[in-house]
Amino acid sequence: MLTRRHFIATGAAALSAAPSILRAQAQWRANPFSLGIASGDPAPDGFVIWTRLAPDPLDAHGGMTPDSMPVTWEVAADEGFGAIVAKGEALARVELAHSVHVEVAGLRPDRPYFYRFVAGGERSVVGRARTLPALTATPNRLRFAMCGCQDYQSGYYTAYRHMADEELEFVFHYGDYIYEYGPDTPAVRQHSSPLISSLDDYRRRYAQYKADPDLQAAHAAHPFFVTFDDHEVRNNWAGDVDDDDGAPPAEVFRLRRQSAFQAWYEHMPARRRQLPSGSALNLYRSARYGDLARLDFLDTRQFRTNQPCGDGYRVACAEVTSPAAHMINAEEEAWLVRNLRRRDVRWNAVAQQVMMMSLDRRWASENAPRKLLNLDSWAGYEAQRRRLLARMRGLDNVVVLTGDEHTAYAGLLHDREKPVAVEIVGTSISSDGDGQDIPPWGPSFMANNRELKFINNLRGYVTCDVTRDEWRSNFMVVDKISTRGGKLSKRATLAVARGEPTLHQA
Ligand SMILES: [Fe+2]
Repeated sequence: MLTRRHFIATGAAALSAAPSILRAQAQWRANPFSLGIASGDPAPDGFVIWTRLAPDPLDAHGGMTPDSMPVTWEVAADEGFGAIVAKGEALARVELAHSVHVEVAGLRPDRPYFYRFVAGGERSVVGRARTLPALTATPNRLRFAMCGCQDYQSGYYTAYRHMADEELEFVFHYGDYIYEYGPDTPAVRQHSSPLISSLDDYRRRYAQYKADPDLQAAHAAHPFFVTFDDHEVRNNWAGDVDDDDGAPPAEVFRLRRQSAFQAWYEHMPARRRQLPSGSALNLYRSARYGDLARLDFLDTRQFRTNQPCGDGYRVACAEVTSPAAHMINAEEEAWLVRNLRRRDVRWNAVAQQVMMMSLDRRWASENAPRKLLNLDSWAGYEAQRRRLLARMRGLDNVVVLTGDEHTAYAGLLHDREKPVAVEIVGTSISSDGDGQDIPPWGPSFMANNRELKFINNLRGYVTCDVTRDEWRSNFMVVDKISTRGGKLSKRATLAVARGEPTLHQA
């Protein structure tokens, strides 16, 4: 067991080796673990554990002096830390906002582990992580959750509070972890700063979000596979292009992206290979749950061409079917297709951000002459969408997992009139506020899109119960988030049988 005396001993050794380290930080004015702890990217032999020292989260440097500081960490097989299986010391570097990312390895597959940190004599809460089964394992079941879109201003993170109580192997986060906008009026709770653009701004925004106790509870309970969508950088950004008319030149936008990516890394339980290099970040990657499932986590922002036809919800122009338009680049596409076609797993999950179904977005009240598309989604990149769906034909084990919409949907993905995969679209944790069971556009969407099987506009998350022959997606919803204490219920379960890409209510 590490004690305060042990810390002082290691601290003194570190101090003599590097005089700029430590200094006045050995005694804290406030809890240095105010942003919580997290684990991420589980593998059969380990996972990442994360924290960031920030006794004063909204202050410059999170209330730290501009020096790096050693942090000790422990991983145990039991919650009481009687059986410590790994421990060490990491440096909370000032260059990385005093964040710590430890890639714990050498652990045993398919079991829970517990972790905690000590810094300056102060101990963090205990987090729970879990290793994945061995690659050679043949598991019968997997239970995980997917979530994202957590606009702080739209409501409380009650869904996260409930998610913390679920029994899950891991959580997939489809992005919009922060929103970049300035304060809204009115808002359930307000952003503390105007529209963010600098590294310092992004850090402060993450600090405001990560101080939320419900979000911290979900991270402490489960390892996360994190990705990002647009709002971690800027609304509807695409490759080197900002959202707005009058977007800055690419080389200027890349500076904003670089700051946003650095702050993202600093606040996520991400592996070292996700540390950005300039304005580039390696986001797409895969994980395998024995022979039961592979999850391919996509990056649908960094390499895409600009949205066609001026973006938004519009009637398709010629650019929509341009063979040059792409959501993911050739390398990412080849990697994805290779993984889908390996045939070494029962299920292929494509865990990504924006909707793959090309839905007609017309409402009853709109009399647009032709189909309206969401051009920020795969519907705006039709050549690549069709190419991917054609590669899914015959696999009959693909489940596409999606966020972005702030509404839950479930539906079928077709290749030449034949369903080849199903798509499960999660709602939001908080973005767009309380919502309602059936949104005003729900009846039109259901009537105009035969591939659509389910729609719901309450906030929440999805849990997936995966067995060898069936994949069930449970739409978990919270009755309200504008006040605290919202109640959770299971709104629906949609099931798909392996070998038969259709959806039915279970
Ligand atoms: Fe969002």
